Amino acid sequence: MVERTPLRIRDRFGYENAQVSRSTEAAFMFVHVLADDAAKLSDLCGILDRRFRVAAERLDVDVKLSEAPHAVVVRADLRVVKNIAALKKRSARMAKIPKRIFLVEEPSHVCISQAYALGATLALPGAINQSKLLAALANPAEPERASPNGEPHQDNAVEVAAAAIGSMFTAVSLGEPIDVTGTKEAGGQIADRITERGLNEWLTTVRRHHEGTYQHCLLVTGVAVDFGLRLGLRRSDLERLHSAAMFHDIGKATIPLAILDKPGRLDVDERTLIETHPVAGYDFLKAHTGVSAEILDAVRHHHEYLDGSGYPDALCAESIADIVRMLTISDIFAALIEHRHYKPTMRRAEAYDILSRMQGKLEKALVAAFKEVALTR
Ligand SMILES: [Fe+2]
Ligand SMILES: [Fe+2]
Repeated sequence: MVERTPLRIRDRFGYENAQVSRSTEAAFMFVHVLADDAAKLSDLCGILDRRFRVAAERLDVDVKLSEAPHAVVVRADLRVVKNIAALKKRSARMAKIPKRIFLVEEPSHVCISQAYALGATLALPGAINQSKLLAALANPAEPERASPNGEPHQDNAVEVAAAAIGSMFTAVSLGEPIDVTGTKEAGGQIADRITERGLNEWLTTVRRHHEGTYQHCLLVTGVAVDFGLRLGLRRSDLERLHSAAMFHDIGKATIPLAILDKPGRLDVDERTLIETHPVAGYDFLKAHTGVSAEILDAVRHHHEYLDGSGYPDALCAESIADIVRMLTISDIFAALIEHRHYKPTMRRAEAYDILSRMQGKLEKALVAAFKEVALTR
């Protein structure tokens, strides 16, 4: 039985259908919906107001809410300057809301990274996927952690790292230089976080908040960090590894999202295009100071195999550096355990089984050492 009462603030933004619903336990959750026009608000409320209490607001109208929402859902064209300005104006208030879901209309690297720069905890590109949105809202928000002085604060290592990857992808898309130091520092924050809380918590948090290539880059860096910790690398060597991981797929910024995020198998032309990303990344990064020859090597060669069957240069064992061998194992494992909305998530044991059956392609001793990372950490 759904009981509806009119939303108190609806007259202020001229939106007729906004309502407060109470039906299930989910209805106690209060969701703030923001959009850049009334039709989008109407569509979104049509999806949400059967499950949640909803307050709808147009971006060009500033409404004071009577209580703090549990989540905010934003649907706006992030190529439009006045929409970005309106969201920036709300950023301090929005930062206090645990779940901030941006439905990104234009599925481009630039708009997705804009969403993260504006504080999104999850960016869903393209047409609205109702079941995905409802599932994202129904998942519990990340718990707040206490700071050393006892004050609660949002832990933001994931957001900092996602923003760094987002700004890298934007820079490549626009042909601008990237922030090399900031990207390395974000990798350092991932290392600190995993040293403190372990790999499992990182995997869970990243997979809950991020999709597609962002999720992949964050997972690879986390897995590589934990692999380095398992092997007892010195701090400076761990930094080399997580820096290489942060940059490894930067060349994917040149590949359309429709191909990167395509559900199911790629055709031959799409596969050929995807396989251009190591060289594209290498070519882009080599013009930057602060990017070592070792990082360039890792970016270019993380899809090479010891038996010479990899790409782009079909290198053989002796030409593949240790750090690249470690990165390749982390990369394959992370790709296998990614959350994709169109398929079930592979269990870590199954992913490790696949890795260990790639005989001749990966270094046996490293794969053996990786077992503990894959299964127990
Ligand atoms: Fe790659
Ligand atoms: Fe990758």
